Amino acid sequence: MVQGIANWNTEQTEEWLQGYVDDWVAFFRKHTNEGKVASYIPELKKANPDQLGISIVGTNGMKIQSGDTSIPFTIQSISKVFSFIVACMERGVSYMLDRVDVEPTGEAFNSIMHLEMRQVKKPFNPLVNAGAITVSSILEGNTSDEKLEPIFELLEKLLHYRPAIDVDVYESERDSSMRNRAIGYYLLETGFLESDLNSTLETYFKQCSIELTIEDIARIGTTLANDGRDIETDEEIIPRPIARIAKALMLTCGMYDASGKFATYVGIPAKSGVSGGIMAVVPPRVRSEDMPFIEGCGIGVFGPALDKQGNSIAGIRLLKHIARQWDLSIF
Ligand code: DON
Repeated sequence: MVQGIANWNTEQTEEWLQGYVDDWVAFFRKHTNEGKVASYIPELKKANPDQLGISIVGTNGMKIQSGDTSIPFTIQSISKVFSFIVACMERGVSYMLDRVDVEPTGEAFNSIMHLEMRQVKKPFNPLVNAGAITVSSILEGNTSDEKLEPIFELLEKLLHYRPAIDVDVYESERDSSMRNRAIGYYLLETGFLESDLNSTLETYFKQCSIELTIEDIARIGTTLANDGRDIETDEEIIPRPIARIAKALMLTCGMYDASGKFATYVGIPAKSGVSGGIMAVVPPRVRSEDMPFIEGCGIGVFGPALDKQGNSIAGIRLLKHIARQWDLSIF
């Protein structure tokens, strides 16, 4: 257990923690061979399953990075957090919560069955595909580019640069995503969509194909940990009530049908993507003053080998270990 760092100066602490994280990444990299890269989007099959990297950015500015840190990857389902935040900022929270629920499904991220079986009045939550596609339809604008512009503006504010779409991954998903089209048609038939199906799906495919690095993901996580305020300028980028709902959704629904286990064994709001990314948000803690990152941090993980639920297999194990060692759980 890491102890007694409260009196360390930041440089010593950073160096010391870096050593631990390097060892842990090297150890958990072995678990990458227990998973498989996503194959249902042909372009994602090209990922290297052996990769594993982590970036941790504290709300105090401290940064620890290790492993495969410089590989840009498409954020996939992590984008669902950003589109929901933008839709809440555009339309208001109560408008959104009237149209998309906040309940976990216990089903796979791309399940259609539960929508029909349970005769839902609105999709279960914005982090499963049915909810996220509904959110894409609610975003302001008629074309996918108009709908996406505020998401890019939000990311630019959060990251201080404007990210781009990986066009190959976007086209690959657009041309192969029969299941998402099926979900889209079901949502159209039930009257949940607020824009035409084509621009809605184009928006969804494009937002999933936005390319970021784990450091970007960690930085966004840090802003969420800091209640939506930029850690350098203190500017409110995401209104606090919206940041709070986003974190609650990440905790209860962010890891799909593994969300309960992740909350129990790791205890941090997190959102995964099928390309192997995870964004985790560690709010400030009032206990364990001698633990690292007590003022909160954001964590970005990348490890393309996935478990059965579509979450990074080594990434989850690495996060679980770090959460235990540093007492990061919110519980
Ligand atoms: O809907 C899809 O198939 C993807 N573009 C996003 C899914 C995803 O990332 C699921 N996450 N683990």
